[in-house]
Amino acid sequence: MAKSITLIVSGSIAAIKAPELIRQLRAKKIGVHVIVTAGGAKFVSLKEIEKLSGHKVSTDIFAPDEMRDMWHIRFSRETDLIVVAPASADLIAKMVHGIADDMASATLLANNKKLLVAPAMNTQMWIHPATQRNVAQLVKDGAEIIEPGVGMLACGEVGAGRMAEPEAIVKKIEAVLGTGYLALKGIKALVTSGPTHEAIDPVRYIANRSSGKQGHAIARALAAAGAKVTLVSGPTALPDPAGVSVKHVTTAAEMLAACEKALPADIAVCAAAVGDWRVTPSAQKIKKAKGKAPEFSLVENPDILRHISTHKKRPKLVIGFAAETGNAAKLGAEKRKEKGCDWIVANDVSDGKIFGEDNNKITLITSKKTEPWPRMSKEKLAEKLVEKMIAHLRKKASDGRA
Ligand code: CTP
Repeated sequence: MAKSITLIVSGSIAAIKAPELIRQLRAKKIGVHVIVTAGGAKFVSLKEIEKLSGHKVSTDIFAPDEMRDMWHIRFSRETDLIVVAPASADLIAKMVHGIADDMASATLLANNKKLLVAPAMNTQMWIHPATQRNVAQLVKDGAEIIEPGVGMLACGEVGAGRMAEPEAIVKKIEAVLGTGYLALKGIKALVTSGPTHEAIDPVRYIANRSSGKQGHAIARALAAAGAKVTLVSGPTALPDPAGVSVKHVTTAAEMLAACEKALPADIAVCAAAVGDWRVTPSAQKIKKAKGKAPEFSLVENPDILRHISTHKKRPKLVIGFAAETGNAAKLGAEKRKEKGCDWIVANDVSDGKIFGEDNNKITLITSKKTEPWPRMSKEKLAEKLVEKMIAHLRKKASDGRA
């Protein structure tokens, strides 16, 4: 069935790119219903947008037709995705606070579909703690951000805040709608993410600093490339990525069982920070015995990555992570051999670095080379890693045919 989106154009100079975005979407046979905010209307011609999209543009929630037909509800019910491009700092702030005082913000509050947000604003507005806080909250609420680029802005200043180009926005939309070219269509992927919690008693547990951001980003990027993804996630504060089957687990043993169930798979990425040890948990809360701290004997947990790497249903490509506080590249290379996986993504976690952050700096270690990658966002890193996986699987398939 033909797919369609609701496009919200808000008050940023980047709104002048909206006609081009609509043109490209229509060329791909994606239906576009447009809402323009009062600010957005200062930059675009409603007539032009109506002509390009083939639908009436919605601007006023209280217009007689709009009100009678409850369009602020119907937009998300009758289209497959909501895209805000450009998203001004003001509209982002309204979204975060659930303000619903016009057609765009009311539609966003009534939204029951996935939400893509392409911010566009002056650099200082973008890096302002208020905007960064709001964007972080939007992501927590389940929105996906199409990161703005760096460049010369309309105000003459140079920096971050330029709306992503229409081509990049269309690519994201196609990935979410599943209408684009999907390099991993037909491929099954298993991803582990987040920490594990090992109970000590009903109150306490052994945990680690993993946030799950990197593993979840990899699951999302694999799904965007068309893979059928099972994400086995330890306890995290992150929303489930859209289009991914998520199995929530707590302990290493539960993670192993969920992974076992997800096999066979073509790709496995073990990004979870699995607890290496557990104790036999006490059914009762352990009480303080004056002056005598309890002693625990630790039992080693199963190694999930090694288990998958040596499995009779071993995936074609098994990728592990190595969190190291020494020479990450050297220790990662040793870990690759020792675990029997194909690639290791090594990072330096000295002083708790990387854990919980939005950026990551890694060294990719394969049997052939050691590649240090520059620092980048965990989302970008996930996309680049998936590109590598696609190239690897293609090469393997063509070698197999030769
Ligand atoms: N891993 C796993 N199961 C475990 C421990 C680790 O699957 N019980 C996986 C992690 O998901 C990661 C890789 O093994 O992909 C390396 O994890 P890391 O914590 O860096 O190493 P460990 O194997 O725990 O070894 P050490 O702590 O001694 O460095």
